[in-house]
Amino acid sequence: MNIPTLRWGVLSTANIGRVAVNPAIQASGNGRLLAVASRDEARARAFAEAHGIPRAHGSYESLLADPEIDAVYIPLPNSMHREWTIRALEQGKHVLCEKPLALNAAECRDMEAAAKSSGRLLMEAFMHRFHPRTEALVQLAADGTLGTLRAVRSAFTFRLSRPDNIRFDPALGGGALMDVGCYCVNVSRTLAAAEPVEVQAWANWGETGVDLELTGALRFASGLHAHFDCSLSADRREVAEVAGAEASATMEDAFLPGVGAVELTERRAGATTSRGFDGANEYVLMVEHFADAVLGRTVLRYSASEAAANMAVIDALYRSARSGRSEMVER
Ligand SMILES: NC(=O)c1ccc[n+]([C@@H]2O[C@H](COP(=O)([O-])OP(=O)(O)OC[C@H]3O[C@@H](n4cnc5c(N)ncnc54)[C@H](OP(=O)(O)O)[C@@H]3O)[C@@H](O)[C@H]2O)c1
Repeated sequence: MNIPTLRWGVLSTANIGRVAVNPAIQASGNGRLLAVASRDEARARAFAEAHGIPRAHGSYESLLADPEIDAVYIPLPNSMHREWTIRALEQGKHVLCEKPLALNAAECRDMEAAAKSSGRLLMEAFMHRFHPRTEALVQLAADGTLGTLRAVRSAFTFRLSRPDNIRFDPALGGGALMDVGCYCVNVSRTLAAAEPVEVQAWANWGETGVDLELTGALRFASGLHAHFDCSLSADRREVAEVAGAEASATMEDAFLPGVGAVELTERRAGATTSRGFDGANEYVLMVEHFADAVLGRTVLRYSASEAAANMAVIDALYRSARSGRSEMVER
């Protein structure tokens, strides 16, 4: 494509767009946020004006029909990801869609097929994997520094108070595993550099029917185990740790480290050392990578099939939480 920068549109006035991803696109060196769409035209206009976005569309369809938009960022409720991703791809747009990519692995595979047939790129907006500290942890797990890997431990919890939040609505794809446990599943698979074969989960279900807390265990064929907990009703915790026969490495504030300097802690034979990392904006790094891939300057690091593999584990965890038994991960 013969354009110097990517022209982005965003579908909806979602909170995560407002606070993190839209500003990241605006700060990116290879993209421009040209348009926002909302179900409500006045809301789109007010949002565009407040955030310096040149165009406002009164419907998602209208933005997708805008010929000057190359790519869309989709921060809609989870239940709407499949429909609007496929519609965008069919209109020739590249798509960066929020996590989790869809409601289940089958939906992810439909989206992957639509990306393939349209010849457009599709990526799940898991920003944590673009932070240099996450990349360093993955490298430590992969290069043998820690010895043979034995366990991965992770958690992502926070307390959600507003009852009208999309995360409490099962029809919109709410739940702790969908919202934050998906990061733990992603970091577990990434650090293991493999797919789990079997999982077990326990959940506490809220009044609306979503999982408020879920604890999960993943068994990999190598013998490595990963375990995590996620919650919409516990004080904020974010951690990822990988433990090997020789040493272990841990990062706190693992998924949302902010933009300041951070540390990666290594424990070896009882001694603790910390490695510092300069501040980075993982959202900017993510949108710049996606734009570079669309512009043909690099190869997309994470395919839609990667997202489908993550979702297959989430599907199995939900089956286990409901059945009370361990479940095999379907491939
Ligand atoms: N990567 C991250 O750091 C991160 C963080 C938070 C959330 N997320 C993901 O981003 C997505 C949005 O989360 P959010 O917390 O930003 O959501 P939100 O603030 O509730 O925004 C969702 C937007 O979707 C539109 N919408 C269309 N139909 C809707 C419906 N039936 N109910 C509610 N909203 C509807 C609304 O925009 P209009 O009215 O303008 O059309 C609304 O503003 C989710 O997939 C979530 O998992 C990612």
